[in-house]
Amino acid sequence: MRMRRRGVSEPALGLPIETPRLILRDFTARDFEAVHAYSSLDQVTRYLVWGPNTTLQSKQTIRAYLDDQKERPRHNFDLAIVSKGEGQRVARQKLIGGAGLKLVDWENRTAEIGYVLHPDYWGEGFALEAAHALIHAGFVDLGLQRIIATCDQRNKASARVMERLGMRREGAFRGSKHIQGEWRDEFLYAILAAEFLR
Ligand SMILES: CC(C)(COP(=O)(O)OP(=O)(O)OC[C@H]1O[C@@H](n2cnc3c(N)ncnc32)[C@H](O)[C@@H]1OP(=O)(O)O)[C@@H](O)C(=O)NCCC(=O)NCCS
Repeated sequence: MRMRRRGVSEPALGLPIETPRLILRDFTARDFEAVHAYSSLDQVTRYLVWGPNTTLQSKQTIRAYLDDQKERPRHNFDLAIVSKGEGQRVARQKLIGGAGLKLVDWENRTAEIGYVLHPDYWGEGFALEAAHALIHAGFVDLGLQRIIATCDQRNKASARVMERLGMRREGAFRGSKHIQGEWRDEFLYAILAAEFLR
């Protein structure tokens, strides 16, 4: 991928990103257990292109995150979603999932967003809060023009998150991904900077 364009500096996100209840920060090697805790669950990965992960696969995932952080220019911003431990006198921070922006077409300032949470934390608005903050950072810090997301058409939770983020469904693809022995149907969602920031 060609990342440099005359007069345009290297893409960089201002990290960590903080929201009322969450911190989005780079992964570290110490995050292995927390990442494996959700990546190894079938209920989490059933509609994803990866998983459920073996121990080795989760280790490789963390290794890839650390390699991506060193890449210059960087084009994968996979971030840990850490709960601040809201409501406790001494905040106990906990890694509850991950969210990422992948610069899929830098020439056209386009990135793809993804998110995953441990099921213990589903249904509390955390995905929405994390994804909203990441989209904001993508448009403001990275100067993106367009952020896309795809999901398996059966993944109601993910589609709902995208809709609540203001993303528009631009496509419904039939049999577009071959995952774990079956051809899967996908939705494509997108949002433009001008829509999100207005
Ligand atoms: C998708 C996922 C991240 C959503 O996380 P979450 O924190 O539970 O989502 P939120 O609480 O922020 O909910 C956002 C919206 O989605 C809705 N939603 C959440 N789970 C839902 C479900 N299973 N079915 C229908 N709607 C759902 C919420 O009701 C809310 O909409 P509302 O405000 O109109 O009520 C989580 O289910 C997950 O990790 N799934 C497995 C990984 C995955 O599929 N990632 C997406 C890859 S494309």
